[in-house]
Amino acid sequence: MKSRRELMLEEMGLTPVWKLRERPDALPAEGPAAFEAPVSPFDAAQGRLQPSVVTDADDRRATIMRTEWPELKARVAGCTDCPLHATRRKAVFGVGDEDADWLFVGEGPGAEEDAQGEPFVGQAGKLLDNMLAAIRLKRGENVFIANVIKCRPPGNRNPEPHEALQCEPYLHRQIELIQPRLIIALGKVAAANLLASDASVGSMRGRIHRYRGIPLIVTYHPAYLLRNLTDKAKAWEDLLFAVRTMNDLRAGTTASS
Ligand code: URA
Repeated sequence: MKSRRELMLEEMGLTPVWKLRERPDALPAEGPAAFEAPVSPFDAAQGRLQPSVVTDADDRRATIMRTEWPELKARVAGCTDCPLHATRRKAVFGVGDEDADWLFVGEGPGAEEDAQGEPFVGQAGKLLDNMLAAIRLKRGENVFIANVIKCRPPGNRNPEPHEALQCEPYLHRQIELIQPRLIIALGKVAAANLLASDASVGSMRGRIHRYRGIPLIVTYHPAYLLRNLTDKAKAWEDLLFAVRTMNDLRAGTTASS
């Protein structure tokens, strides 16, 4: 009889390739060399943008970067700072353990997330839940899930740069409050936002990047994996790499900043 885990992997279309051959905690301790993100216009030490790019947005950002959870949630729920508020049903703040070791970051809400106000509840969300289960993680249990964009762009169009810019401080403040041990960027939008890089997901996989000192691993977005089944095996490699990295971080063999 198949185990629950085998059934789960089968449901993801990941058998036999996605078979966990080694216990994550038995994997080698040393992680790959860290890769530093390019210099961002955001000066972490000062908690503000570099003087050359200081704008009115700087004050807004600084205010957001001082908010605590209740105020941040209320601010996102009622945000009218970009045109997306006019067409959204619910802003999607993010969900999970506010002290999580693991932070998964996606792109932005789709229709179902917009209706329910929770990230990753549609088809891509089911796959994400199965991916989490495959590495013995569960939404809400030491895991936080958030998006770069909190409101659904109409017709699922890409957010305009000024819309993304308005939303950016919300995610950055969430990360500052959670202080996760490890961030998993799901897809190019998340990676581009957090690493200020335009590189492809393929070229960013398999290395430890850093978002303001926090280790970050890039993998494919679940919605992409639903369309590109053959890349599921690579995403599985990425998840195993993430588990090894988390074990190293807990053991203190990968620098946490
Ligand atoms: N895709 C995302 O990036 N985020 C969601 O919340 C849902 C789908």
